[in-house]
Amino acid sequence: MEKIIFKNEKNQLNILFYNENIVRFVYGDYIPKKNITDAVILEPTKIEFTKDKNKIYTKNFDIIINNNLTIKILNKQDEILLEDTKIEFKTHEKIKNKLENTESLDSVLSERDLEIINPIKVERKVTFEKGFYGLGEKYGFINLIDRDTYNWNTDVLGVTTMHNSAQRAYHTSIPFYIATDESKSYGIFYDTSYKTYFDFKKLSENVVYKADGGILDYYFIYGKNIKDVVQNYSNLTGTLKLPRKDFIGFQQCRWSYMNTKETLEIAKKFRKNNIPADVIYLDIDYMENYKVFTIDSENFKDFKNMAKELHKMGFKLVVIIDPGVKVEDSYKVYEEGIKNDYFIKDKNGEVYIGKVWPGDSSFPDFLRDKVRKWWGELHSNLIKIGVDGFWNDMNEIADMSNDTKTLPEDSYHIDDNGIKRYQKEVHNLYGHYEAISTYEGVKKLQNKRPFILTRAASAGTQRFSSLWTGDNSSVWEHLEGSIPMLLNLGLSGYSYVGSDIGGFIDDTNKELLIRWTQLGIFYPLCRNHSVINSRYQEPFAFDNETTEIIKKYIKLRYKFIDYLYNLFRESSIKGNPILRPLFYHYQEDIETHNINDEFLFGENILVAPIIRPKQNRRLVYLPNGKWINYFTKEEFEGNNYYIMKANLNELLLFVKKGSILIENSEMNYIFENNDKITIHIYADENNLSKEFYFDDGISFEYKNEKYSIIKVEKIDNSVKISKIIDNYILPKFDLIIHKKNDIIKFENIQFDNIYNI
Ligand code: GLC
Repeated sequence: MEKIIFKNEKNQLNILFYNENIVRFVYGDYIPKKNITDAVILEPTKIEFTKDKNKIYTKNFDIIINNNLTIKILNKQDEILLEDTKIEFKTHEKIKNKLENTESLDSVLSERDLEIINPIKVERKVTFEKGFYGLGEKYGFINLIDRDTYNWNTDVLGVTTMHNSAQRAYHTSIPFYIATDESKSYGIFYDTSYKTYFDFKKLSENVVYKADGGILDYYFIYGKNIKDVVQNYSNLTGTLKLPRKDFIGFQQCRWSYMNTKETLEIAKKFRKNNIPADVIYLDIDYMENYKVFTIDSENFKDFKNMAKELHKMGFKLVVIIDPGVKVEDSYKVYEEGIKNDYFIKDKNGEVYIGKVWPGDSSFPDFLRDKVRKWWGELHSNLIKIGVDGFWNDMNEIADMSNDTKTLPEDSYHIDDNGIKRYQKEVHNLYGHYEAISTYEGVKKLQNKRPFILTRAASAGTQRFSSLWTGDNSSVWEHLEGSIPMLLNLGLSGYSYVGSDIGGFIDDTNKELLIRWTQLGIFYPLCRNHSVINSRYQEPFAFDNETTEIIKKYIKLRYKFIDYLYNLFRESSIKGNPILRPLFYHYQEDIETHNINDEFLFGENILVAPIIRPKQNRRLVYLPNGKWINYFTKEEFEGNNYYIMKANLNELLLFVKKGSILIENSEMNYIFENNDKITIHIYADENNLSKEFYFDDGISFEYKNEKYSIIKVEKIDNSVKISKIIDNYILPKFDLIIHKKNDIIKFENIQFDNIYNI
């Protein structure tokens, strides 16, 4: 590890480069070989720089290190990007003494953290910043400025009645934020699992960061713009893996479909009503007494047949797996866990017992590789009887036996090196390590791309699992709040995300479900879900009018399936989110920086959903360029606000002029047929070019280059479509050119032909 060290009489600062955009600052005399957070996947590397006393000059920025070891970073125009005014953490004297008698540094890390109880604080001047974004899963407006918040994975419903701006902590903790104005941006990632606090200029003039323990260890992430920062952060912590295509279709869930008959009936109703859907979920009631990896032998006695029937109808089946293992002698999972010492311990070294759905429960210690493997293998029987995907819930960990609704801070894990890791240190990592266990286990058993959905996560979990935002309610505020929440998750490297469509807690209503579906069809994870004892809220649960409108919009999602799949691929390679705030592509336009109720679906589709009841008009901001209403084809000049109308069956959806999209033909489910795709060119005077990717959507064969890429080019008045890579069977293509007041259509196009338009 090449590091540059600065010292003063009290302390030490270590500087490590990861590439030309990423530099790490670690304070103190200890750098863990691998951080327990498992967030960072890049290795430090050599870059070119020059050093002059307390200054380091790199290609993209310069670093100044002050006597007190605070730092200042300037861009190449000599503008200040970052300026720390204060850092606080305890010196490592105590630990130094201890280290003299210890061989391995790692073996004292956890002990050290607890011993020093090292509260950390950084104060950072606000110099140019007009906005702060990111921090993963937060409710409230997208810009975090003038707010404070903290990160501690929390079962929100356990501690409050619902999502709201006053609730700071959610199920997921990602201590990464982006600072911006119209022309500058940078990101900061604090690589810690401890509880962290952020104040973005609310109670202080400065940005204040605090952590309850650990090491002050953070990454400065440079970017020419916000997009670069997000891509660089994704490079550092990893991107999602290309998902199975069927799992980006519409998903239906409820707590719970109570038996095989009901589950099959729901599936049949989708087909009968011609409403496309791909996934159906079983919530906790499929189990015997909520015991994970069991099946209720009465209500689900013909489970295997049910799965077969569902598959025949083109459905995939997902079941919930909670981490709480019922304390019950002769229950195999519990017995194995006890026998092998796989569970988390309480402060006295006894197996910790909390309370979740099965009553008294113990929790697997996912920090250990052995435990993760054991748990992964437990999925085998469920896969054999036809389960396709897994839903990991209650993994903050939710524990109803404590006022804090989670495990006490002094309960502990034991990591792979045999070291005690207290809840206080590793609480925020539980969902992450469970996701690894499930992902790796299922991958081995299925040899297909696993589908995992998690509630709790931390930085890096995007590499293993999709995520939903937990228990929202069937209220308009939560429809509205889901937009900034999902946008900030996307900016924090988490693209495969969604909120419960229709709202989870409470009864939804027709209008709310319709408007929520119009929005929710753009969620990367598109799932309708509701709580026990609430009214049913499937797309066909209301009157005919409601069913027809909802159907229209779910069909629209399926039209965009291959476009969306291509966005997933882009996200898996570059880290660009699928849902993007307008400022992602229009940062120079300050009007876009605080838009909470519109978003981009990829770069060139803009969605402005109705988010309030009984509204059929709203303000729409269209950024620079020309925008075409997807349905009416009316053209609008950007850089303008418009008041636009959308009746209950209408949605305000725009395509940027000068873009190329693809649309699938109608289908009931994703692998039903996919033999025709229409390429749409929204032509302007410029030359255009775009590539589209196709593979089998399910296996890992794409890693062996079993995929195809086509290139669509519009040059002057001609269009050519060619194959760039031709290793997977392609559908047939039609071509539609949208011109002002006119469309031109070519059917079954030939590759490399020239089409005059
Ligand atoms: C939690 C989940 C919710 C699920 C319920 C029962 O509240 O967030 O989605 O339906 O538990 O398993």
